[in-house]
Amino acid sequence: MPLTTPRLQVDDLCCSFDGRQVVSDVTLSVAEGQVMCLLGPSGCGKSTTLRAIAGVEIPDSGTIRIDGAPVFGPEGSVPPEHRGVGLIFQDFALFPHLSVADNVAFGLKGRKKDKRARAHALLERVHLERYLDSYPHELSGGEQQRVALARAIAPKPRVMLMDEPFSGLDNRLRDGIRDETLALLKEEGTAVLLVTHEPEEAMRMADEIALMRDGRIVQRGAPYNVYNAPADRAAAAFFSDINVIEGEVNGALTDTPFGQFLAPGQPDGTRVDIAIRPQHVRIDFDRDGRGPNPTPQDGTPARAVVVRSRFIGNESLVEFRLDATGGKMIATVPSVFLPKPGTPLWLMIRRDRCFVFPRT
Ligand SMILES: Nc1ncnc2c1ncn2[C@@H]1O[C@H](COP(=O)(O)OP(=O)(O)O)[C@@H](O)[C@H]1O
Ligand SMILES: [Mg+2]
Repeated sequence: MPLTTPRLQVDDLCCSFDGRQVVSDVTLSVAEGQVMCLLGPSGCGKSTTLRAIAGVEIPDSGTIRIDGAPVFGPEGSVPPEHRGVGLIFQDFALFPHLSVADNVAFGLKGRKKDKRARAHALLERVHLERYLDSYPHELSGGEQQRVALARAIAPKPRVMLMDEPFSGLDNRLRDGIRDETLALLKEEGTAVLLVTHEPEEAMRMADEIALMRDGRIVQRGAPYNVYNAPADRAAAAFFSDINVIEGEVNGALTDTPFGQFLAPGQPDGTRVDIAIRPQHVRIDFDRDGRGPNPTPQDGTPARAVVVRSRFIGNESLVEFRLDATGGKMIATVPSVFLPKPGTPLWLMIRRDRCFVFPRT
């Protein structure tokens, strides 16, 4: 048991549409001031999970608790407006006929003066106090998004549910608004559950990532851990391109063009995939056929021939064909390195950056 009750606790949540289960046994918890990202490909059930927590979708089973009190479970269901939950969607809509201040004050209860003061304070916090009496159409997209944020935060929700809230903004605006949003939510002690299909966004925003696939959470952890210790090949591939070297286990070892790899606990004959991200493939020159300088950390080098090279901004992407197997590999290297197709080079891979998975 955790020492403090999580703000949001979801257990064994299942949802289906027309008899097809799209959310299966989802369990997660979010603490006060914590940001949890539900990350996964389109269609994996993220929005359905969020909508069930908000109360606008009725789950088949499971329990949802907010500050320890059930809002959905065997005993029944609390209606959305009484759950203490705030929602921000990509297609947020401000009320066009209300001023910016009235939009923010809309969901508030109490005296008019107090509502206005709260709206004012929040608009100041998102640097929009000069637009108090403007109407939404007079604001840019980014400014409208900040008004929507202020409006969602105004009633002090205990849990903020955000569904791809930044995907409608252009890149330049996005980073600023993301950081500002996070700072504000942390200040207010809100528990945040943010849905996104972009790994970079999740890693940037999350204290913890829950990786979702086909309605299930396949891995949970801090961004560093999910990235560096993926649960399976698909989890590794979700965060970046990966190179996959195929092998078969013999005496807890697997032979590859890069030498032998440990495959502990795998019985003989198991087929394994060894995955490595392109930025962890090292390249060395052929030195007129003498091969690379050996470095123990990088293990056995394998000779390969350049298929093509592309410059992609801060780095170059080089595609190879391995001499030994004819298999393809890609490597990313910092800055400009554009060897011509046909150039022989040597590849080395960092053992500590490889993931060995039994093939499924
Ligand atoms: N109202 C609905 N009626 C029928 N099927 C739906 C409905 N909403 C979502 N789905 C289906 O449920 C699955 C999960 O959808 P969703 O939760 O929106 O995924 P995500 O947000 O991860 O992209 C998808 O296959 C989608 O087509
Ligand atoms: Mg969605």
